Amino acid sequence: MSAPRMEVHAFGLRFANPVLTASGTFGYGSELAGSCPLTALGGLVTKGISLAPRAGNPEPRICETAAGMLNSIGLANVGLRAFLEEKLPFLRDCGTRVLVNFFGETEDDYLRCAEGLSGHGPGIDGLELNISCPNVKAGGLEFGVVPEVAGRLCERVRGATDLPLVVKLTPNVTDVVALARACVQGGASGLSLINTLRGMAIDARTRRPRLARVFGGLSGPAIKPVALRLVHEVARARLGVPIIGIGGIMSGEDAAEFLLAGATLVQVGTASFVRPDAAARVAEELLGYCAAQQVSDVSELTGALA
Ligand code: SIN
Repeated sequence: MSAPRMEVHAFGLRFANPVLTASGTFGYGSELAGSCPLTALGGLVTKGISLAPRAGNPEPRICETAAGMLNSIGLANVGLRAFLEEKLPFLRDCGTRVLVNFFGETEDDYLRCAEGLSGHGPGIDGLELNISCPNVKAGGLEFGVVPEVAGRLCERVRGATDLPLVVKLTPNVTDVVALARACVQGGASGLSLINTLRGMAIDARTRRPRLARVFGGLSGPAIKPVALRLVHEVARARLGVPIIGIGGIMSGEDAAEFLLAGATLVQVGTASFVRPDAAARVAEELLGYCAAQQVSDVSELTGALA
């Protein structure tokens, strides 16, 4: 058998393979390019960008947990202007697809940020609308738990940009399908799920929370079964847009599981903290899985759960 075809198409874009890096785990691309060959990836998703720079939450804002980690970064980033001036030039010629994650504290912030990220040509292939960060007072989850609110924001942002618009969903809701449907009705080109699960960690010896802000978002292999279930629920609803599966992917087989559950693409996040080249290794392992399973085209896996 010839080598499996790994290329996939989604949101009007061609991806060399289905494996992307997740926002907040791979900087703006340039920081990890020396450790992870970007051309081996299907794409990368940048750190979340806001109109103004943000310092994020007080430290400690990361801690390790059983089979995962908690973060309460608070969406620290360089802001739109510095992103365009200092980070975008590298991304223009980085050899892989780039989705820019972005967010706002108000609806108007989201709109202005989407507008500001549009019309720059190569370097920004699509946007990932973040309505699922559990670590900020304004914005984030405020827009991501009530379907009507999320749908209205998507509709307004859709009108502000011609770029593919993927909406990143939270698992911290009772009905993820209602939320997903509202986003698609609002014009989302795709859905990425899941963002982190709200959690906390305590140091029993000091009797103090391990994170300065007490609560954070749980990621890593500990959340993979939850993520698979939510991806599968949304896929079964057949909303007509591609899904990007995220949640504890450490290996090619993990990635295959998300594809079987209904995802077209996947993102690797926490694994990049263990090994900066984790996403490239996942892509290579997924190719090996396809060859071993006699899958001639990786797209065949999407939704192929028996
Ligand atoms: C953070 O910056 O606090 C995490 C980002 C996110 O959960 O979207």
